[in-house]
Amino acid sequence: MDKPKIILLASGNPHKIEELSQVLNPLGIDLKSTRNFEDAEEVIEDKPDLEGNALKKARYWHQFTGLPSLADDTGLEVDVLDGAPGVYSARYAGEGVTYDDNVNKLLKELSGKNNRTARFRTVVAFVTDTGEYLFEGICKGEIISEKRGEKGFGYDPVFVPEGYTQTFAELSSDEKNKISHRGRAVEKFIEFISEA
Ligand code: IMP
Repeated sequence: MDKPKIILLASGNPHKIEELSQVLNPLGIDLKSTRNFEDAEEVIEDKPDLEGNALKKARYWHQFTGLPSLADDTGLEVDVLDGAPGVYSARYAGEGVTYDDNVNKLLKELSGKNNRTARFRTVVAFVTDTGEYLFEGICKGEIISEKRGEKGFGYDPVFVPEGYTQTFAELSSDEKNKISHRGRAVEKFIEFISEA
Protein backbone atom coordinates (compact mmCIF):
# COMPACT_ATOMS: atom_id res chain seq x y z
CA MET A 1 0.00 0.00 0.00
CA ASP A 2 1.27 3.51 -0.88
CA LYS A 3 1.09 6.12 1.84
CA PRO A 4 -2.27 7.91 1.36
CA LYS A 5 -2.37 11.72 1.01
CA ILE A 6 -5.82 11.97 2.55
CA ILE A 7 -7.53 9.82 5.20
CA LEU A 8 -11.16 10.00 6.22
CA LEU A 9 -11.94 9.66 9.92
CA ALA A 10 -15.42 8.16 10.40
CA SER A 11 -16.21 10.48 13.31
CA GLY A 12 -17.43 13.99 13.90
CA ASN A 13 -15.91 14.18 17.39
CA PRO A 14 -13.73 17.33 17.41
CA HIS A 15 -11.32 15.88 20.02
CA LYS A 16 -10.66 12.75 17.96
CA ILE A 17 -10.25 14.85 14.76
CA GLU A 18 -7.81 17.28 16.39
CA GLU A 19 -5.79 14.54 18.09
CA LEU A 20 -5.37 12.48 14.93
CA SER A 21 -4.66 15.52 12.70
CA GLN A 22 -1.75 16.39 14.96
CA VAL A 23 -0.02 13.09 14.30
CA LEU A 24 -1.00 12.65 10.63
CA ASN A 25 -0.19 16.15 9.34
CA PRO A 26 3.57 15.85 10.02
CA LEU A 27 3.48 12.67 7.88
CA GLY A 28 2.04 14.71 4.99
CA ILE A 29 -1.43 13.20 5.42
CA ASP A 30 -4.51 15.43 5.43
CA LEU A 31 -7.38 14.28 7.68
CA LYS A 32 -11.01 14.71 6.62
CA SER A 33 -13.91 13.83 8.90
CA THR A 34 -17.64 13.17 8.61
CA ARG A 35 -18.01 16.95 9.16
CA ASN A 36 -16.75 17.45 5.58
CA PHE A 37 -19.70 15.45 4.16
CA GLU A 38 -23.27 16.55 4.75
CA ASP A 39 -25.39 13.97 2.94
CA ALA A 40 -24.05 10.81 4.59
CA GLU A 41 -26.28 8.34 6.41
CA GLU A 42 -25.78 7.59 10.07
CA VAL A 43 -24.05 4.23 10.46
CA ILE A 44 -25.89 2.12 13.04
CA GLU A 45 -23.50 0.33 15.39
CA ASP A 46 -25.42 -2.95 15.65
CA LYS A 47 -22.65 -5.56 15.42
CA PRO A 48 -22.00 -7.96 18.31
CA ASP A 49 -18.38 -6.87 18.79
CA LEU A 50 -16.09 -3.84 18.56
CA GLU A 51 -14.33 -5.22 15.47
CA GLY A 52 -17.66 -5.53 13.63
CA ASN A 53 -18.77 -1.98 14.42
CA ALA A 54 -15.40 -0.41 13.58
CA LEU A 55 -15.26 -2.29 10.26
CA LYS A 56 -18.89 -1.45 9.42
CA LYS A 57 -18.21 2.29 9.88
CA ALA A 58 -14.88 2.26 8.01
CA ARG A 59 -16.38 0.25 5.10
CA TYR A 60 -19.38 2.57 4.79
CA TRP A 61 -17.20 5.69 4.71
CA HIS A 62 -14.71 4.15 2.29
CA GLN A 63 -17.54 3.28 -0.08
CA PHE A 64 -19.22 6.67 0.36
CA THR A 65 -16.11 8.86 -0.13
CA GLY A 66 -13.67 6.62 -2.02
CA LEU A 67 -11.05 7.66 0.55
CA PRO A 68 -9.03 5.35 2.78
CA SER A 69 -11.19 5.38 5.91
CA LEU A 70 -10.52 4.97 9.58
CA ALA A 71 -13.08 4.17 12.30
CA ASP A 72 -12.88 3.17 15.94
CA ASP A 73 -15.07 1.51 18.51
CA THR A 74 -14.38 1.26 22.25
CA GLY A 75 -15.79 -0.75 25.11
CA LEU A 76 -15.19 -1.19 28.82
CA GLU A 77 -14.85 -4.90 29.65
CA VAL A 78 -15.33 -5.80 33.33
CA ASP A 79 -14.09 -9.28 34.29
CA VAL A 80 -16.65 -10.15 36.98
CA LEU A 81 -19.44 -9.06 34.58
CA ASP A 82 -18.14 -11.44 31.88
CA GLY A 83 -16.89 -8.59 29.72
CA ALA A 84 -19.96 -6.31 30.05
CA PRO A 85 -20.74 -3.56 29.21
CA GLY A 86 -18.29 -4.17 26.31
CA VAL A 87 -19.73 -3.30 22.93
CA TYR A 88 -22.82 -1.86 24.71
CA SER A 89 -20.79 0.65 26.81
CA ALA A 90 -22.49 3.73 25.31
CA ARG A 91 -25.99 2.41 26.11
CA TYR A 92 -25.43 0.24 29.17
CA ALA A 93 -28.26 1.88 31.14
CA GLY A 94 -30.52 2.08 28.02
CA GLU A 95 -30.95 4.16 24.84
CA GLY A 96 -30.39 7.90 25.09
CA VAL A 97 -28.85 7.79 28.57
CA THR A 98 -26.11 10.02 30.00
CA TYR A 99 -22.55 9.01 30.90
CA ASP A 100 -23.58 9.37 34.54
CA ASP A 101 -26.49 6.91 34.13
CA ASN A 102 -24.08 4.32 32.71
CA VAL A 103 -21.54 4.85 35.51
CA ASN A 104 -24.27 4.56 38.16
CA LYS A 105 -25.52 1.32 36.65
CA LEU A 106 -21.98 -0.06 36.60
CA LEU A 107 -21.41 0.84 40.26
CA LYS A 108 -24.70 -0.84 41.16
CA GLU A 109 -23.79 -4.04 39.29
CA LEU A 110 -20.43 -4.11 41.08
CA SER A 111 -21.65 -3.26 44.56
CA GLY A 112 -20.36 -5.78 47.10
CA LYS A 113 -18.03 -7.35 44.52
CA ASN A 114 -14.33 -7.67 45.42
CA ASN A 115 -12.95 -8.42 41.98
CA ARG A 116 -13.14 -5.07 40.15
CA THR A 117 -10.58 -5.61 37.40
CA ALA A 118 -11.49 -4.28 33.97
CA ARG A 119 -9.99 -3.08 30.73
CA PHE A 120 -10.83 -0.56 28.08
CA ARG A 121 -10.42 -1.96 24.58
CA THR A 122 -10.38 0.06 21.36
CA VAL A 123 -10.46 -1.40 17.89
CA VAL A 124 -9.43 0.82 14.99
CA ALA A 125 -10.40 -0.34 11.49
CA PHE A 126 -8.74 1.02 8.35
CA VAL A 127 -10.33 0.27 4.97
CA THR A 128 -8.64 1.12 1.67
CA ASP A 129 -9.01 0.07 -1.99
CA THR A 130 -6.51 -2.70 -1.39
CA GLY A 131 -7.29 -4.06 2.07
CA GLU A 132 -8.84 -3.98 5.53
CA TYR A 133 -6.67 -3.63 8.62
CA LEU A 134 -7.46 -3.83 12.37
CA PHE A 135 -5.47 -2.36 15.27
CA GLU A 136 -6.21 -3.03 18.94
CA GLY A 137 -5.35 -1.01 22.03
CA ILE A 138 -5.92 -2.18 25.61
CA CYS A 139 -5.65 -0.36 28.92
CA LYS A 140 -6.02 -2.53 32.04
CA GLY A 141 -7.19 -1.18 35.38
CA GLU A 142 -9.93 -1.40 37.97
CA ILE A 143 -13.28 0.13 38.79
CA ILE A 144 -13.40 2.03 42.08
CA SER A 145 -16.61 2.33 44.08
CA GLU A 146 -17.04 6.15 43.98
CA LYS A 147 -16.54 8.67 41.18
CA ARG A 148 -13.40 10.82 41.34
CA GLY A 149 -12.26 13.64 39.01
CA GLU A 150 -13.84 16.04 36.56
CA LYS A 151 -11.83 15.51 33.36
CA GLY A 152 -12.44 13.13 30.49
CA PHE A 153 -15.80 11.50 29.76
CA GLY A 154 -17.73 8.24 29.96
CA TYR A 155 -16.46 5.84 32.62
CA ASP A 156 -13.31 7.90 33.33
CA PRO A 157 -14.32 8.93 36.91
CA VAL A 158 -14.43 5.29 38.09
CA PHE A 159 -11.52 3.80 36.11
CA VAL A 160 -8.04 3.67 37.68
CA PRO A 161 -5.44 2.46 35.17
CA GLU A 162 -2.93 -0.19 36.31
CA GLY A 163 0.11 1.36 38.03
CA TYR A 164 -1.75 4.60 38.89
CA THR A 165 -3.69 5.86 41.90
CA GLN A 166 -5.67 8.53 40.01
CA THR A 167 -8.72 7.84 37.87
CA PHE A 168 -8.67 8.70 34.16
CA ALA A 169 -10.84 11.71 35.13
CA GLU A 170 -8.04 12.97 37.40
CA LEU A 171 -5.26 12.64 34.81
CA SER A 172 -4.52 15.34 32.21
CA SER A 173 -5.58 14.50 28.66
CA ASP A 174 -1.90 14.19 27.66
CA GLU A 175 -1.24 11.68 30.46
CA LYS A 176 -4.37 9.74 29.58
CA ASN A 177 -3.58 9.65 25.84
CA LYS A 178 -0.13 8.17 26.47
CA ILE A 179 -1.51 5.07 28.21
CA SER A 180 -5.09 4.86 27.00
CA HIS A 181 -6.67 2.11 24.91
CA ARG A 182 -7.43 4.60 22.10
CA GLY A 183 -3.94 6.14 22.30
CA ARG A 184 -2.37 2.68 21.98
CA ALA A 185 -4.57 1.58 19.06
CA VAL A 186 -3.89 4.85 17.21
CA GLU A 187 -0.15 4.47 17.90
CA LYS A 188 -0.19 1.06 16.18
CA PHE A 189 -2.05 2.56 13.22
CA ILE A 190 0.45 5.44 12.99
CA GLU A 191 3.35 2.96 13.01
CA PHE A 192 1.67 1.06 10.17
CA ILE A 193 0.97 4.14 8.08
CA SER A 194 4.44 5.61 8.68
CA GLU A 195 5.98 2.49 7.19
CA ALA A 196 3.68 2.50 4.12
P1 IMP B 1 -16.86 5.11 21.34
O1 IMP B 1 -16.75 3.83 20.58
O2 IMP B 1 -15.58 5.91 21.34
O3 IMP B 1 -18.06 5.92 20.93
O4 IMP B 1 -17.11 4.70 22.87
C1 IMP B 1 -18.26 3.99 23.30
C2 IMP B 1 -18.53 4.26 24.78
O5 IMP B 1 -17.45 3.75 25.57
C3 IMP B 1 -18.61 5.75 25.14
O6 IMP B 1 -19.93 6.21 25.02
C4 IMP B 1 -18.15 5.78 26.58
O7 IMP B 1 -19.20 5.46 27.45
C5 IMP B 1 -17.14 4.64 26.63
N1 IMP B 1 -15.76 5.14 26.42
C6 IMP B 1 -15.05 5.12 25.28
N2 IMP B 1 -13.83 5.63 25.44
C7 IMP B 1 -13.76 5.99 26.74
C8 IMP B 1 -12.72 6.58 27.53
O8 IMP B 1 -11.61 6.90 27.07
N3 IMP B 1 -13.03 6.79 28.83
C9 IMP B 1 -14.23 6.47 29.38
N4 IMP B 1 -15.22 5.93 28.69
C10 IMP B 1 -14.99 5.68 27.38
